[in-house]
Amino acid sequence: MSSELRPKCPAIAPSMLKCDFGDLQIEIKKLEAAGASLLHLDVMDGHFVPNLSYGPMVIERIRERTDLILDAHLMISAPEKYLDEYLRVGCDWITIHIEAVPKPVHLLEKIRDAGRLAGIAINPGTSVSAIAALKEKVDLVLVMSVEPGFGGQSFIPDSVEKVKEVRKMFGADTLVSIDGGIGPATIPEVARDVNIFVAGSSIFDKPDYETAIHEMTEIARSNSSPHN
Ligand code: DX5
Ligand code: ZN
Repeated sequence: MSSELRPKCPAIAPSMLKCDFGDLQIEIKKLEAAGASLLHLDVMDGHFVPNLSYGPMVIERIRERTDLILDAHLMISAPEKYLDEYLRVGCDWITIHIEAVPKPVHLLEKIRDAGRLAGIAINPGTSVSAIAALKEKVDLVLVMSVEPGFGGQSFIPDSVEKVKEVRKMFGADTLVSIDGGIGPATIPEVARDVNIFVAGSSIFDKPDYETAIHEMTEIARSNSSPHN
């Protein structure tokens, strides 16, 4: 795994779903100034999830405006049809859902061959055994701690056991990310097993991004374990 693509962990990944899209450039600059090292980009197609967000055209414009790591979370059906576009526009990490692609090895290899990090995401209702065969094929496992599709939902408590299971199965070198309902109250529960904390509401609903990111990073760090 290229070290340039791996941020200092634990890291807070602002989910851009909740940013002000009318002022994207300013939002990016504010997040850079707030100390973010990556941006989490939620791509939704209105089919795999019951919501629509944005796609490669918007990511291309984000790429022109920042050198931060771009962490694309593809909540889309048939990602094989669109993968080339997400590679072309400069996503650094590309995560696909196991529920969308039951046999994802070829796609994961394609992402790695392009020099990017390959991620697999699992929904709350999917068991970790569904991704067991991918241990050597992924750089990142993203555990959904809410049903994908919308920001602002409550953390599902079963996710605590799930990240433990993922960490045990995938070992210390794989990045483990958690997404949904993450904030100062939920980070301590999962911090031993998680490297990347995706956070939407707990950053964008706050007046000061820097304080929010700093506070959550400190909470993650103080509850972390050496492998993070
Ligand atoms: C939900 C997305 C999340 C979402 C998180 O499907 O994957 O990244 O934006 O939002 P919060 O942090 O508000 O739960
Ligand atoms: Zn996400």
